[in-house]
Amino acid sequence: LARIGTGTSFAEEAAETEEPEATSLATAASGTLPIPEILAPTDENGVAVYTLQAQTGTNTTLVSGKTIATGGYNGTFLGPTILLSDGDAVRFDITNGLDDETTVHWHGLHIAPSADGGPQNIIEAGATWSPSTTINQGEACTLWYHPHGLGTTAEQVALGLAGMMIIDDGSDANAALPHDYGADDIPVILQSTAVTSAGAFATANNNFTASASTLKFLVNGMSATDETPTLEVAYGRVRLRLLNASLTDSITVARSDSAAFTQVASDAGLLVEPISITSLRISPGERAEIVLDLTASDDAVKLQATVRNTTNGTRYTASMLSVSSTATSAADDLPTTLNTITDIDATDATTRTFTLSNSGASMLINGIAGTTMDIMDANAVMTTLGAVEQWTITNSSTNIYHNFHLHDVPFQIVSVAGSAPTGANTAWRDTIEVAPGTSVVIKMRFTDYADNEYMYMLHCHNVIHEDDGMMLALMVMS
Ligand code: C2O
Ligand code: CU
Repeated sequence: LARIGTGTSFAEEAAETEEPEATSLATAASGTLPIPEILAPTDENGVAVYTLQAQTGTNTTLVSGKTIATGGYNGTFLGPTILLSDGDAVRFDITNGLDDETTVHWHGLHIAPSADGGPQNIIEAGATWSPSTTINQGEACTLWYHPHGLGTTAEQVALGLAGMMIIDDGSDANAALPHDYGADDIPVILQSTAVTSAGAFATANNNFTASASTLKFLVNGMSATDETPTLEVAYGRVRLRLLNASLTDSITVARSDSAAFTQVASDAGLLVEPISITSLRISPGERAEIVLDLTASDDAVKLQATVRNTTNGTRYTASMLSVSSTATSAADDLPTTLNTITDIDATDATTRTFTLSNSGASMLINGIAGTTMDIMDANAVMTTLGAVEQWTITNSSTNIYHNFHLHDVPFQIVSVAGSAPTGANTAWRDTIEVAPGTSVVIKMRFTDYADNEYMYMLHCHNVIHEDDGMMLALMVMS
């Protein structure tokens, strides 16, 4: 792949790039990390058209003797990476090749609610949905796309229906970080999964721990449980864009030698400055970008992941990735400043409280389980274009972790369990974990898009909880 230079639109670059050889992500035989290919757009009078087909497949290699039903976009597991730049005029043509209805949501993308891919944007089996937008993100970030049907998100994401989306904001800081996709800028999709004795990807908490199920930790579709994926790069530094695409498990990433590494971005944009950390916990749906220095030692840098941190699962540590470099000289220093984040003035903000709780398997926000469109509609949170709001998110479940995701705009964190935010919590976020018995206070400004008919969503991104009702609609009224 050509090195992507400053000022070159990702869309143009992808169009010029030769189609990489298709990799079957679920069946990579060797130990080399499979890399999702870039989705090349076609040009229609200046509009970059991205074509996705949701489809089903099977996997016979993950657990011997079992044929597992899978799903993917333009393939049988996961989907291609969509590279976009601010200012791109785009259309997504999504055809539903599944037997059931689906939707495709652009997680983290600032987009009109009618194009957001929530439960109102149903694509019937065999049908095509074609939302258009102009990319207007304003931050360099790692996003993703996945189904978002009412009550069906977990079962469809579990199949493997998920892909990455990368936004270039054109900033010098983003250009100064490793940004050559597939060469020193690597998507890393993490999935804590389990295969049931019946040979299906588990979709509920209890199936993960049923003694007959086989736990599998997948990295870009490759089973790291069976063989550690390896990655060899030609640069002294590599940027890893981590996405936790698990249904329910938070994942803690660390170097297996416990040494420090650098985080450069949260799930919604670059940090103000790079930070040095020794471990990174990523809740379901969240992303984080890290940079590894590969010339400090001749040995490969090995990453491990500790997964299964829901209350009813046992934790285990899996090797995740072994990264080595052929570069002999040290890389240039990273920029010391990555981003400018202007604090939202919330002095006159509308305040709200959202309490996340459960009554058995029923998952509630403020006592409401949004399990039908009618309930969500009747309980929709209403705000107006331009409003600044400050929300207190409280997890009142005992022992159950929840995490809170808001569509449309990213938020800033005011406090976590009563303390001022630190580290990546000082950056823009779109998903934040809320530990049992604690609160997180966030603030946001609703900009650009209003619609009196189409809704955004706010929900727990443990998608099993989401499907069990922990979701409400948000309407930004004009
Ligand atoms: Cu990743 Cu409302 O979704
Ligand atoms: Cu939850």
